[in-house]
Amino acid sequence: MEKYENYTIKNVGEEVTLNGWVSKVRNLGGLIFIDLRNRTGIMQVVVRPENKCYELANSLKNEYVIKVTGQIVERESKNASLATGDIEVDVNNLELINTSKEIPFAITDDTNALEDTRLKYRYLDLRRESLKNNFVLRNNITFATRKFLNNLDFLEVETPILCKSTPEGARDYLVPSRVNKGKFYALPQSPQIFKQLLMVSGFERYFQIAKCFRDEDLRADRQPEFTQIDVEMSFVDEDDVMWLGENLVASIFKEVKGIDIKLPLMRMKYDDAISKYGSDKPDLRFGMEINDITSNLKDTEFTVFKNVIENNGIINAIVVKDAADKYSRKDLDKLTDYVKTYKASGLAYLKYQDEVTGSIVKVLSEQEINSIKESLNVSHNDLVLIISGDYSIVKTSLGALRCKLARDLDLIAKDDYKLLWVVDFPSFEWSEEENRYMACHHPFTAPKDEDVDKLLTDKAHCYSKAYDIVINGYEAGGGSIRIHDEKIQEIMFKALELTDEDIKEKFGFFVDALKYGCPPHGGFALGLDRLTMLLAGTENIRDVIAFPKTASATDLMCEAPSNVVKEQLDELGLALKEEKNK
Ligand code: AMO
Repeated sequence: MEKYENYTIKNVGEEVTLNGWVSKVRNLGGLIFIDLRNRTGIMQVVVRPENKCYELANSLKNEYVIKVTGQIVERESKNASLATGDIEVDVNNLELINTSKEIPFAITDDTNALEDTRLKYRYLDLRRESLKNNFVLRNNITFATRKFLNNLDFLEVETPILCKSTPEGARDYLVPSRVNKGKFYALPQSPQIFKQLLMVSGFERYFQIAKCFRDEDLRADRQPEFTQIDVEMSFVDEDDVMWLGENLVASIFKEVKGIDIKLPLMRMKYDDAISKYGSDKPDLRFGMEINDITSNLKDTEFTVFKNVIENNGIINAIVVKDAADKYSRKDLDKLTDYVKTYKASGLAYLKYQDEVTGSIVKVLSEQEINSIKESLNVSHNDLVLIISGDYSIVKTSLGALRCKLARDLDLIAKDDYKLLWVVDFPSFEWSEEENRYMACHHPFTAPKDEDVDKLLTDKAHCYSKAYDIVINGYEAGGGSIRIHDEKIQEIMFKALELTDEDIKEKFGFFVDALKYGCPPHGGFALGLDRLTMLLAGTENIRDVIAFPKTASATDLMCEAPSNVVKEQLDELGLALKEEKNK
């Protein structure tokens, strides 16, 4: 492959042969200028009227594939925005290698083609420079990862794609077995069980760039199939694994972006993250922390707040600095609608200007208004936004609101990266759907030593040796120390209300393995797609996956999923249910 950017003014006079695609052709009164494109960039080539290939050059269309031979010359009018902008190739010979149908959208970075069209013709979309650069970046990330982990004696091991259901909490993708009719493989939600088994095997340090599959509702940062940088280590504790995780991430930042990440990363307890930022993945690129003002209003006459306090609820606030004049009544109504999508019952506000105004100014006493001002350190023109109610609704809605306000007010600096560990996750979370406690992470996550005794008696207050690495408000990775003691694993299963039959059926082989000299072990997985997204500066995960799925989990190019013929179903011993009301 010719690297176009390697040619500079120093190469003037050299003869070169270049292959590529016609990105643009201009006939400027005789001279024909062609922008020739390959993976490495653009080179301008020029064909003169006296050239034997002139007619051919004049017939070229965008995206034709050509080969040119010619001399590098200095350009008359230089183009500073192009790496090769000082030079051009004066063509001796031009060969047409292939033509192209008219393309459905222009191959430019400022395209306004619909994403659906671009996904249908993804192979053309990938010709765009900005998208292509994301894959160069992704390649550099995996390369840096392999280098870093290899140096530390990690073995890269592949684990099966056709396997048994793994307990990560999402729905499985199932694959029917032809040979064992009526039985199904599950695609791995992660290699969790296999990597733990490799520790039982004594591999001690494992990693894999692993494909994972989860049938869950998709969002801007979620795909049904995605990739993890998956790591597991033996004879380690939380500090060892977090040391490895943050050094790996820091080395990736350094290698691919030249950014120095200051280590060790800050650690924040899960409970503090929720309390201060309303999220277990706090975005620390801006302030606006959540403050509790319940005690400032403990004697309030305002019935809404009074009722909340009587019902053990909380009143919390965020201060939007110097923004009171930026938000009209209508803007605040819109913010109220926004927080209602997070189940908040409303949004109260106070504007501290020459006068204090706002939706609750008449119902609070002067002393209450002043005490809020004092404890929140409010200055002139600050806007105070208040939500009251149930703890988790108040925290979650204010957490989402602070992120929205930061985006709206442009408070987030470009290329700013704020990384932290969120630690001490609860072992269990209450599932309204299932009406029971479920594993917050997965059933093999070790509880904190001091909480082992509470596993069966006080689930709400059990914490685990689990940690997530958070970058700019995204969960970039997570992991835990695992249970290696068969007895504690048994208690954990009991706590999760799994029957002996469930355990045997779901992971009997795994529980068995724990009985054969299982070393203490732990690990983590980084979301490779998310990490690439963050380093590429995009908020759309599809921009860093070569052939992604849409939000409804379809591939518009291959048209997957698709129907299969009856013979295929017969062979698998399957029949489709007649859809009702058809
Ligand atoms: P977890 O489920 O937290 O942990 O996943 C690890 C990381 O993978 C990324 N991720 C996703 N990325 C894109 N699309 C998805 N649908 C998706 N789901 C998860 C996130 C996440 O932080 N086996 C454990 C790891 C361990 O304990 O070692 C696991 O899979 O960045």
